[in-house]
Amino acid sequence: MLSTPPLSLYVHLPWCVRKCPYCDFNSHEQRGVLQFEAYIDALIADLDQDLPLVWGRTVQTVFFGGGTPSLFPPAAIDRFLQLASARLRFAPGAEITLETNPGTVEHGPFAGYRAAGVNRLSFGVQTFDDACLQRLGRIHSSGDAERAVQAARDAGFENFNLDLMYALPGQDMTMALHDVERAIALQPTHISHYQLTLEPNTVFAAKPPAGIPDEDLGWDMQEACQEQLAAAGYAQYEVSAYARPGRQCAHNLNYWQFGDYLGIGAGAHGKLTLGASQEVLRRWKVKHPTDYLLKSGTAAAIGGDDVLDTARLPFDFMLNALRLNAGVPMAMFEARTGLSRHAINGRLSVALARGWIEDDAEWLRPTELGRRFTNDVVCLFLEPEPPCTGGA
Ligand SMILES: C[S@@+](CC[C@H](N)C(=O)[O-])C[C@H]1O[C@@H](n2cnc3c(N)ncnc32)[C@H](O)[C@@H]1O
Ligand code: SF4
Repeated sequence: MLSTPPLSLYVHLPWCVRKCPYCDFNSHEQRGVLQFEAYIDALIADLDQDLPLVWGRTVQTVFFGGGTPSLFPPAAIDRFLQLASARLRFAPGAEITLETNPGTVEHGPFAGYRAAGVNRLSFGVQTFDDACLQRLGRIHSSGDAERAVQAARDAGFENFNLDLMYALPGQDMTMALHDVERAIALQPTHISHYQLTLEPNTVFAAKPPAGIPDEDLGWDMQEACQEQLAAAGYAQYEVSAYARPGRQCAHNLNYWQFGDYLGIGAGAHGKLTLGASQEVLRRWKVKHPTDYLLKSGTAAAIGGDDVLDTARLPFDFMLNALRLNAGVPMAMFEARTGLSRHAINGRLSVALARGWIEDDAEWLRPTELGRRFTNDVVCLFLEPEPPCTGGA
């Protein structure tokens, strides 16, 4: 029997000052003046269309992602939150995060975001090495990042994340550790530490930059940085996420625990449990902002609806849950997929025999080895036969 999980709201704001050569997000270089008002209208029309899927439910977290949400002025974010909260109940103290590029906030709109209701920021710092920032095509310097964080703190934001990337072109171990040290010095509550990946259809994939650390060095960097973060009080709780006690990102945690989320905005993805039909729906919106602006609120703005086949639920659940160091209770698997644990007994036995999960009937928890081979572990849960049987 499916039970209704917590509900989040993801809002996609798809423009950036400049497209970074490594980025495959649905982000588009800003050309001319952005149509903030028209885009907020489109978001609300989009939300109105999805509302019948979540009647009566309370939103626990909101995340403005991008793209570069900090291109939007506080007044536009304020208008959106006012209109959205007139349509949906927000939980008291709901976590409301806004992604920020340090190169877009030199005039300090942070007080305005805070007044609008945003209570958590996420800064795309990437690295504090100015030569590396240039190689990554970033529009800001390390000094800009430090000044942006200080401005946010002055405006009352003490809950913020810094995004760092490692295994960067020309980066060695000392440089990777130095980045982590400078991030810690800014005292964020949360650090996301991503290994640079060469995503298909990006400039870097077509022409990889020289000096990208090999896989072994990338792994060593991850381990050394993880230790440095732990020593400073940032515990790893997901493959790329580290937090001070009690400061895990509630929004992302809901994704990883196979919670529900509305996805509004160009190309946004949502996942919703439909109580009446006992089904899980994935819905996404048309990707290109111009197309989205034209079609939002109509059936044509829905890029697709996919009601998940029961056989696919274990894979989708594990894809998220096994990223978490602590794993999840077995009862959560049952509640959020509507399946009995017996449905995955065979797969669990294989994972256990390979040393990928802990031997615990009540918890699904990856071992250190399992976390190193997450893809292989997750593949075990594909139906009907896992195509990949590699790993340790
Ligand atoms: C939507 S962006 C964050 C906000 C803003 N757009 C920015 O870049 O400053 C999300 C984060 O994903 C990470 N990211 C993007 N592309 C990546 C890649 N190819 N490999 C690893 N991390 C990546 C970066 O750390 C980036 O800050
Ligand atoms: S600023 Fe962020 S979203 Fe935009 S292109 Fe760069 S990494 Fe991607």
